[in-house]
Parts: sequence; C-alpha cells; structure tokens
Amino acid sequence: MASTEDKAANKENVSSWKDSIYNPRTGELMGRTASSWALILLFYLVFYCFLAGMFALTTWVMLLTLDDYVPRYRDRVPYPGLVIRPNLPYIAFNRSDPHKYSDYVKVMEDFLEKYNDGAQEQSEECTQGVYFEQDNTEEMTKKVCRFRRDSLNSCSGLVDTTFGFAEGKPCILLKMNRIIGLKPRGDPYINCTTKNKDAQVPIMYYPGEGRFDKMYFPYYGKKAQENYLQPVVAVKLMLLKEDYNKEWVVECRVEGSDLRNNDERDKYLGRVTFRVLASE
Ligand SMILES: *[C@@H]1O[C@H](CO)[C@@H](O)[C@H](O)[C@H]1NC(C)=O
Ligand SMILES: *[C@@H]1O[C@H](CO)[C@@H](O)[C@H](O)[C@H]1NC(C)=O
Repeated sequence: MASTEDKAANKENVSSWKDSIYNPRTGELMGRTASSWALILLFYLVFYCFLAGMFALTTWVMLLTLDDYVPRYRDRVPYPGLVIRPNLPYIAFNRSDPHKYSDYVKVMEDFLEKYNDGAQEQSEECTQGVYFEQDNTEEMTKKVCRFRRDSLNSCSGLVDTTFGFAEGKPCILLKMNRIIGLKPRGDPYINCTTKNKDAQVPIMYYPGEGRFDKMYFPYYGKKAQENYLQPVVAVKLMLLKEDYNKEWVVECRVEGSDLRNNDERDKYLGRVTFRVLASE
C-alpha cells in the first residue's frame, strides 16, 4: 500500500535523475558544464594524439633497425618440409587417356618453367658438393646457383613431355621448403619406398641418387636471392602392367643428413606420403 508521501518522493527522485543528465537550472550536462566538457575532450584528444605519436615513433625506430636483406631476429634454423608437385595426396590416372593426366602434367610443366636454361641466365655455375657461402662478400645481393632442368632426365619434361604418365611410369617432383640459413650436414637425398605390404615398386631418382646438392645452400632470403631456385628431385615409379588398378602408397623421406624426417607431430617435416593409382 503506497501512501501519497511515497509518491511525492518518487516524483522528486525521477526529476533529480533527469537533472543528473541535464540540469536546466545550472546548464550542466551529466554534472558538468559545457566548458568543463570541452576541457575533458581537449585533454583526451591531446592524450590520444600523444599515444599515437609514441606508437608511430617506436614502430619507425624499430623498422630502421631492420635489414631488408638479413632477417635480424632468428632463433635456431628450423627444419624444412618436403613437398611434391603435383601437390596432391592422391594421383590417379589412365595412361591411355591424356585428359586423365593433363592437369598433373600442366602443374609440373608450370613449376619447371623457371628452371629452364633461359630463365636462369643470371645464375652461377657452382661447384658441386660444397655450400655456396657468400657471407664475407660486401654485396647485399647474393648469387644463385644454376639448377639444370635436364638433370631430371626422363622426368624433366623436355624429352618426355608427359612426365612418364603416357608410359604408365609417372614422375613426381620433390623439393624442400626454403629455409634461410639452412646448411644440411651430410648429403641429403630422397629415399622413397612403397608402403604396400605385399609388393614393392622400383623407383628411379633424378638427379643421380636423388641428391639435393650442397651448393644450393644456404639460402639468403627473398630479397638477397630473388631468383633462388630450390633444388628438385624427381622420382619415377617404374610401374608394370600388373601394378595397375592398384593403389600404391609412396612415402618419401630426406635421408643422409641431419634434416629431420620422423617428427611425430609434423608429418611433412622432411617427408611426404602420397598415393598413386594407374590404369590403362
Ligand atoms: C630407403 O629406405 C628404406 C626403408 O626405410 C631402407 O630400407 C633403405 O635402405 C633406404 N635406402 C637408402 C638408399 O637409404
Ligand atoms: C582408360 O582409357 C581408355 C581409353 O579412353 C579406356 O578404353 C579404358 O577403359 C580406360 N580405363 C579405365 C580403367 O578407366
């Protein structure tokens, strides 16, 4: 039961609440006069400008200390992943039907285009088997080593433009991801094995023994070595007629060096697995 007294008190409360937003008697908005509000706004404006200025300044100073050519802060050199071209986990084709493998061939042809002799005119003829170190040169731009596309032999796409697909012995290209400063110890090479229980497929490697030559390491980064090309290894699955219509699981690893190839968490670190199914 509400008394009239209570109602009056209520009314007063409402009007004082209204006053707290805008009080017509004093001209205060939310308890402050216009000039007080203007001062506050001015203060925050100056304050935020100052913060923005500080941010811009520190960013600018930090950028000044960065070198475009050499990544400055780098903890230990990571290990590279292994990737294939065509970059697919499953490669199925019918050797009698070019439409069934033309996409694969196109990917490989596009990939190898930059390995053409004409595209590598600026490249150096390097000494095989030794790192091509250029740390003590004054030059910011480093030289790059030539990779001869024809060293991929029957998987180069130069002689057999179907990369072996037409003869039912497909080629797959492998390369390691670029890692700045990586110098693999030992002599890294690709070793692929078919994982099927009952049978094996012989595999050919190009260049010889599937080696990644040391001369392509270390890599100095995109800016210093704009035209750098990773070494490529091609593997050719020597499938016979009796191997057709059967899914072959192929696992390739980088071996012969300190590069990791058996990381439990990262199944692409130094290794890659793909499946191949041929028919005719
Ligand atoms: C390739 O790997 C297989 C299986 O791990 C091994 O038996 C074989 O000796 C390796 N081949 C080379 C040349 O390292
Ligand atoms: C492969 O292609 C040929 C020619 O187009 C066709 O006759 C044959 O049936 C195909 N084989 C399979 C397994 O699809």
